[in-house]
Amino acid sequence: MPLGSFPPGEGPLLAAIERSGMLGITSKQLATTTGRPLSEVESTLERLSGRASVLRVGKGLWIVPRFAGEPSGGEGFLGPEWYLERFLREADLPAAAAYTGEIQFNPNEELPVHRWWPYVQGFSADFVRGALRTYGIRRGATVLDPFSGSGTVSVEARLAGAQAVAVELMPVAASVIRAKHAWSVSPAALRRAGNDLVRRARVTAPGAPPFLRETRRQFSPGALSTLLRLRAALANVRQGEVRSLLELSFASILVASSRLKRSPCLGYARKPEVGPEGPYELFRLAVERIATDLTTLRKMGESIGPPAQVLERNARSLPLKDEVVDLAITSPPYVNGMDYVMNYKLEMAWLGQARSYEDLSRLKSDMVACDNVSPVTIGAYRPGPLIEGDEWLQGILQDIRRNIASKSVYRRRDMADIVAKYFDDLVPVIGSVHRVLRPGGRFLVVNGDSLMAGTYVPGDLIFGRLAEKVGFEVERLETARERRSGQRRDFRLRESILTLRKPLSS
Ligand SMILES: C[S@@+](CC[C@H](N)C(=O)[O-])C[C@H]1O[C@@H](n2cnc3c(N)ncnc32)[C@H](O)[C@@H]1O
Repeated sequence: MPLGSFPPGEGPLLAAIERSGMLGITSKQLATTTGRPLSEVESTLERLSGRASVLRVGKGLWIVPRFAGEPSGGEGFLGPEWYLERFLREADLPAAAAYTGEIQFNPNEELPVHRWWPYVQGFSADFVRGALRTYGIRRGATVLDPFSGSGTVSVEARLAGAQAVAVELMPVAASVIRAKHAWSVSPAALRRAGNDLVRRARVTAPGAPPFLRETRRQFSPGALSTLLRLRAALANVRQGEVRSLLELSFASILVASSRLKRSPCLGYARKPEVGPEGPYELFRLAVERIATDLTTLRKMGESIGPPAQVLERNARSLPLKDEVVDLAITSPPYVNGMDYVMNYKLEMAWLGQARSYEDLSRLKSDMVACDNVSPVTIGAYRPGPLIEGDEWLQGILQDIRRNIASKSVYRRRDMADIVAKYFDDLVPVIGSVHRVLRPGGRFLVVNGDSLMAGTYVPGDLIFGRLAEKVGFEVERLETARERRSGQRRDFRLRESILTLRKPLSS
């Protein structure tokens, strides 16, 4: 909340405390500075501290929370340790333990089903499996992931015998998850369908290229022609699970057949040119990988759960009854994270899930805001009460605005509003998960922090603060790994696992 909008008495008081900076100011000094009676100053301070707008740091000594622990002589920069220490203290938690297992997606590329779709932004199946074990998830339980991505949680939950609910807004990811649950397809039938498709593609005329302006630059002429033939032949395959697996195989080879690389953003790369036979070979390998894994799954028989319920929709509202979910596990888009729509436009365009740039922009404006969100969407955004009421966030937004006003190097002048909208977009999702979770149920969140416009944004901890306001208890924070900031390579960011618990009675 800007200082000016505090009720009379509070604004001047806050301004005086803020001016005094990290050294703080006593109630008596405040009474003198503001010309108000000491009793009124003290009662206003009590009220402000109830809202955590000011902090008592010593006998009668007050500061604005943002100044607490500011490195002396620094430029007002608050870093990871400052926020972490306060977060743990306020939530009454011990120091963050280190999670020593694998958290990233890479090892999944060796695992049945997970390896059907290479997905850089996913988390490890091993982490999910550990969580399912810890919380005793087995047959009859329901496990939810509101930001499902490639469906890691849903696959592991089903392997554990549970019912998975996978929510995902991006059509390509939702269709990947659906295909990743087509476990009743016979491996022989899939191999046959794959071979037939290649045979027909060889004698089919190439169809029209997708709408993306860059298509001809993205592929060699030979690879492009083969992909257009494969796609035209695919359009004639009967709808059903076999077709969804063939589409998944086709989508999974697009980047490998192109001049592009995803690491993690999609961009041009120096790599050997793929000729006209390349996509056929890659497609055949992709189909074979799936057929091999379907054979493995058949051997598991009775122990696996029902196919996941895949909901292609915005996670802000969930069409589930209250208190039906036993465990929720997710990894939301990170603050200042990936522009998923830009990154997966290639597959969405080739699969016909997006038919124009307008389709892509519409989708992007529905997703949790990233720093590529359209200025129009941001222009129309007004912060909600939880964002207005979070003093960490307000301090951070103020710092971002101040840095942007003083330097011209930043790409977006509206970055503070993007950050505010990012967190506001998460609030209804956290609320929905809270509603559908059984009392005592856990919500595990793999998340990260960021450096934006010279300001440190503890995205994971702010998620925790918002969750507390929604009704969760913060049970644990573990640090999973260090990451490098894209803004300053020497700045170490964190990836963490936050365990939230819905209290037994609220
Ligand atoms: C970090 S990824 C999740 C990765 C996942 N844990 C895995 O292992 O594959 C976040 C996902 O959230 C999705 N997403 C973004 N905004 C959404 C929204 N409003 N509703 C549902 N899904 C959304 C993105 O499309 C992306 O796939």
